[in-house]
Amino acid sequence: MSSTPDLSTHPLTQAQHRIHQDLLTALDAFAIPEPLKSAVHHAVMLGGKRVRPALCYATAALKPNQNTAAVRRAAVAIEFIHCYSLVHDDLPCMDNDLLRRGQPTCHVAFGEDTALLAGDILQSMAFEILGSRLFDQTYAVEASIVLKQMQILATASSKMVNGQVMDLQAEGQHIDQAALEKIHRNKTGALITAAVMMAAVTIFEGTDIAIPKLREFSQAIGLAFQVQDDILDIISETEVLGKTAGKDEQVDKSTYPALMGLEAAQQYAQALHTQAIAALTHLDAHADELLQITQFLLHRKS
Ligand code: IPE
Ligand code: IPE
Ligand code: MG
Ligand code: MG
Ligand code: MG
Repeated sequence: MSSTPDLSTHPLTQAQHRIHQDLLTALDAFAIPEPLKSAVHHAVMLGGKRVRPALCYATAALKPNQNTAAVRRAAVAIEFIHCYSLVHDDLPCMDNDLLRRGQPTCHVAFGEDTALLAGDILQSMAFEILGSRLFDQTYAVEASIVLKQMQILATASSKMVNGQVMDLQAEGQHIDQAALEKIHRNKTGALITAAVMMAAVTIFEGTDIAIPKLREFSQAIGLAFQVQDDILDIISETEVLGKTAGKDEQVDKSTYPALMGLEAAQQYAQALHTQAIAALTHLDAHADELLQITQFLLHRKS
């Protein structure tokens, strides 16, 4: 008998199926002219680990069946923002990359003008979805929850852009660990934290003891995620990553392995995961999905 774990029941696999359907439904709700429509589909529907939606669902699992439609909209919105960030990140004026999720980048497939606009429209569509009644069959969620979701997503998106600016400025520079941490927390950590916090404000009314713990958890995995992205750029292969390996060194990006060495960066990522798991121990048994996703993140290869 094989001891291979049954991946079909893993919360990440389940999230990938759920979000795939919901992204398709959400995209269908918009009338987008060609070639923009195809560019948007290219950016959103072709693979991706769907870590942010998975975190959203796993957080919502802390209180099952609570405002489920609003959780689903949050998961779609955060993935839209993430996909937009990747399309713009790959542009020639940014990281100038040709490969993403194993496919030609959006600008390679559709041209820079259309790719730029695909990112732009995904950003506004994310907020339209949050304010819509998509997936709601019975009742609308309280307006105060929608407002909180929008505030969290807008703040995180701004942080992401600020982080991207700092990231580009730091190319070829020698920056210290505090400066690098600031870049990583902004360009990547903020959106990962938003995935958790948007679900948290949707399921918990007002303040809840779980909220500060979830923030602590999500900030630790958010920073760890980019530290590992930097590590994988070095140790993984293009075929596995679905994006060009070794790219950071080529353009002299400021990364954790460049700053502290590969091994120390790996230890740091591990320490951040331990910190994240420690924050979860204060939550009840429903935190199991978050724990499983955290385990996946620590061992991910792409
Ligand atoms: C890549 O994000 C960009 C970063 C923020 C590090 P992901 O590794 O989540 O990319 P996909 O969605 O799985 O392609
Ligand atoms: C990604 O950082 C940050 C955002 C897209 C916001 P990277 O530039 O390292 O991401 P990859 O490696 O191209 O996916
Ligand atoms: Mg970048
Ligand atoms: Mg990049
Ligand atoms: Mg990278």
